[in-house]
Amino acid sequence: MTNAEGGPVPHVIEAVRWSPTGDAVRIIDQRRLPGEYVERDLRTLDEVRDAIATLAVRGAPAVGVAGARGLVASLVVYAGESTARFAERMRAHAATIRATRPTAVNLPWAIDRMLERAERERARDPRALVAALREEATAILEEDRAMCRRIGEHGEALIAERSRVLTHCNAGALATGGIGTALAPVYVAAERGRAVAVYADETRPLLQGSRLTAWELARAGIPVTVLTDGMAASLMRERGVDLCIVGADRIAANGDTANKIGTYALAVVARHHGVPFYVAAPSSTIDHAAPNGEAIVIEQRGAEEVRRGFGTLTAPEDVAVYNPAFDVTPAALISGFVTDRGIVRPPFDFRGWNAA
Ligand code: MRU
Repeated sequence: MTNAEGGPVPHVIEAVRWSPTGDAVRIIDQRRLPGEYVERDLRTLDEVRDAIATLAVRGAPAVGVAGARGLVASLVVYAGESTARFAERMRAHAATIRATRPTAVNLPWAIDRMLERAERERARDPRALVAALREEATAILEEDRAMCRRIGEHGEALIAERSRVLTHCNAGALATGGIGTALAPVYVAAERGRAVAVYADETRPLLQGSRLTAWELARAGIPVTVLTDGMAASLMRERGVDLCIVGADRIAANGDTANKIGTYALAVVARHHGVPFYVAAPSSTIDHAAPNGEAIVIEQRGAEEVRRGFGTLTAPEDVAVYNPAFDVTPAALISGFVTDRGIVRPPFDFRGWNAA
């Protein structure tokens, strides 16, 4: 595979970074994978919002990082404005980006952190403020990278030699600033010479599992097998899976967890077959203000994603469609959380967890 200009695809996946000139956010356009590797630079508020809404950049931590960096990029050209006008614009851009996708808590978390930094720097002129915000957005990504690594270090203990791990959606390098969350333990175990194989749920309707997880694992030389979501039960009955590890978009204080639609079904099936079910996530995904899953807003997406997902009509043109992007897995179905602070076992209580 080559990139859009015919050049090599970089060895290290960086889902979100600064453009070389520093005035834009550079993302890998995940809508084009696995067929094409294309990077895009986001400069304007519309470009940032559109990239997040259409899942060009996706995955809870990556969306948080892209939101923070996108905020900076969208403000660069306005740094010549008066301090008051600039502050007003910054708040408006922040509110727009914050509202782009409602479920992953990493996005409001990152945007609020940017606004808190701006508040601390409020005496400074817009140019100095942009520089301070850039520093904050850089720190958000660097901290995420470090948290991913720690998730991997803690979680690799779960992966014995010849483990077969089932995952859902994509919670790998493409979804974060580092080596991923659910895939981090797999990468670290493989790095340490352990044989590990992954089953990737296709993940209807946008196929993040077959398009993205399979792509990044295959590039890393980790054996990966794709199955459609409805096949997981049968695979478990055949004793083909040792453990499940999935990511998370928002974890409530009691451990109820929102993640890609289909995760809940997988957890039910895993419990039925006695397969351990782990959620891997950084502290920035914990929402201690949400007491339980009922407080989590689930994003509803358009009908066309199901009726005509990748161009072909797969349901009658005007049929009604149910298309929530996420579901909530009750804490009772979760064997443990693999976090940057270690593995957390039941009973879960994330009150007081703070990402900072
Ligand atoms: O709609 P997406 O692709 O952004 O959904 C992503 C997921 O559900 C991931 O599992 C989650 O964000 C964790 S990513 C480390």
